[in-house]
Amino acid sequence: MQKNVLIVYAHPEPTSLTSQFVAVAQQTLQAQGCDVMLSDLYGMGWKTVFDACDFPDRIEPDRLSLITESGHAYSTGQQTDDVVAEQQKLLAADAVIFLFPLWWFGMPAILKGWIDRVYAYGFAYGYKNEGNRYRYGDGILKGKRAMLSVMVGGPAADYTAYGINGQLEALLFPITHGNLFYTGMDVLPTHAVYGTGRITAAGIAAAKEVWRARLTQLFDEVPIPFRRQNGGDYPDGHTLAESITSGRTGLMVHRRDTLGELAI
Ligand SMILES: Cc1cc2nc3c(=O)[nH]c(=O)nc-3n(C[C@H](O)[C@H](O)[C@H](O)COP(=O)(O)O)c2cc1C
Repeated sequence: MQKNVLIVYAHPEPTSLTSQFVAVAQQTLQAQGCDVMLSDLYGMGWKTVFDACDFPDRIEPDRLSLITESGHAYSTGQQTDDVVAEQQKLLAADAVIFLFPLWWFGMPAILKGWIDRVYAYGFAYGYKNEGNRYRYGDGILKGKRAMLSVMVGGPAADYTAYGINGQLEALLFPITHGNLFYTGMDVLPTHAVYGTGRITAAGIAAAKEVWRARLTQLFDEVPIPFRRQNGGDYPDGHTLAESITSGRTGLMVHRRDTLGELAI
């Protein structure tokens, strides 16, 4: 069956490595028979900040309560057109790829602004008006796949287990776990190109080959085994069962394949 893939990317320069990786993804996925949708955030002039302009018809004019207004606008069909268009792309997608350069250990602000605005109340959180019932493994985007593809200026050594910057998977955990798995998506391991600050033409060509090969596995790869909120590991829906943690802490306790760190 034909698959739909949404590529959301953030880079202001068309010749950047990020933009080159978008082109490779587009070509490779189309050659595989996928229908590819693009959200070029800089090209679209995406409005980054989440503010009062998002809600011209407020139910609480005296005080801007973003969650209340977001839920109201979503449920009454009063969201801005740009937000609605992105939500529809997400709903139509079988897989979503986020392509961006690592900027200060996270995503560029314009992409964070896409999350802040597109992730409306009733859509990405507060789904079905049931509070936290549908999150982390359940939610409106359940059944879809997601992957981060990140250009990293520094060398891989800086991002290993004892690397000075911290492990890349830990730095990106708020995105993979908090933004993607939260809405129910199956999140694939992050694709990273390290050392982009000093990369040669041969290095770029090799990195593109690895990226092409990775894309052919988009619908076959095993996702990161994050623990589902409603899978039994969080008896009260908030805290991991003591029998599982057994004295371990850290973000990685939320994965079934790691034990996390020893509590000090
Ligand atoms: C504002 C800014 C912040 C950056 N922060 C980081 C960082 O935290 N870690 C890192 O390794 N490289 C960092 N870099 C380097 C970028 O990751 C690098 O320029 C990028 O990967 C190159 O890919 P591109 O051609 O797609 O921009 C930063 C660059 C900029 C402009």
